[in-house]
Amino acid sequence: MVPRETRAATLAASPNSAYTVPLMSIAAEPTDLSFPHRHLLGIEGLSRGEITSLLDLAEAAAVLSRQVAKKRDDLRGRTLINLFFEASTRTQSSFELAGKRLGADVMNMSIPTSSVQKGETLIDTAVTLNAMRPDILVVRHHAAGAVELLAQKVDCSVINAGDGSHEHPTQALLDALTIRRHKGRISGLIVAICGDILHSRVARSNILLLTALSARVRVVAPSTLLAPGIERLGAEVYTSMREGLKDADIVMMLRLQRERMSSSLVPSQREYFHFFGLDYEKLAYAKPDAMVMHPGPMNRGVEIDSEVADDARSAIREQVEMGVAVRIAVLQALARHLPNQ
Ligand code: CP
Repeated sequence: MVPRETRAATLAASPNSAYTVPLMSIAAEPTDLSFPHRHLLGIEGLSRGEITSLLDLAEAAAVLSRQVAKKRDDLRGRTLINLFFEASTRTQSSFELAGKRLGADVMNMSIPTSSVQKGETLIDTAVTLNAMRPDILVVRHHAAGAVELLAQKVDCSVINAGDGSHEHPTQALLDALTIRRHKGRISGLIVAICGDILHSRVARSNILLLTALSARVRVVAPSTLLAPGIERLGAEVYTSMREGLKDADIVMMLRLQRERMSSSLVPSQREYFHFFGLDYEKLAYAKPDAMVMHPGPMNRGVEIDSEVADDARSAIREQVEMGVAVRIAVLQALARHLPNQ
């Protein structure tokens, strides 16, 4: 196996992104997986070695997902339930595909037609589903800490698919995988995370993960959209795109999360785009080979110019592809700790 840090980030053209990395360079599935946890509730608490093990496993899963025959039987006979109290396209569908590719039975709970609408609480809903003997619950909820609380009430493994403004661990893992595949390393890279930092679980999980792997992380936002104390997580704070993007290797844009704003924190979309939207002029502050990322969903013309989003330097669609690979890897890692009877 070619060492990760020295592997050349060989780039090849593809219909989606000039950055797509050929799969020939991908390592075989590692046998020395180091992931002793029953749940994945956040990046906080994971060691550098555990994160790296998951990324290595996900590289092998990326190979699996590009094959015609995509099925394995790691989760054969197991049941996975997606329990999403907030809307999702990428996370929910990729957990569904990941579970099915590993042979699990997958059920997507429909919250709008569930008894949550009759007043049943999150915990009562989770305990009810737990009584049906699932093996893994994948949970998204609007309240920070809700998924961890739920994990204390059920017997099965629990994965945090995003809890309020707290954490979105699989998003950070897929972002790290995308970066590592393109740049050949994470250590020493300058990653600028720009936009609504205040409400972003993606920013928080990415800061935790990327600093654990020795990247230099900057957050760039108007002061109204900066989370107090964010520098204590290890990020450098900027309120100017010119300064924050200077010599950046990675420019990661975030959506304005209006659904979490109780008052208007930006003057107008037009003004916000003028100062903080990523266009070619601002992208030029970063390194010439800087990679553009966005976790999605994007609001074109608000935080990112439409042409930049579709530029050859954009890895946004590859992030989605790596999302399936990372979720396969996380399910495989947790499968090793599922009880056999
Ligand atoms: N990035 C992300 O979590 O996207 P979804 O909300 O579509 O799942």
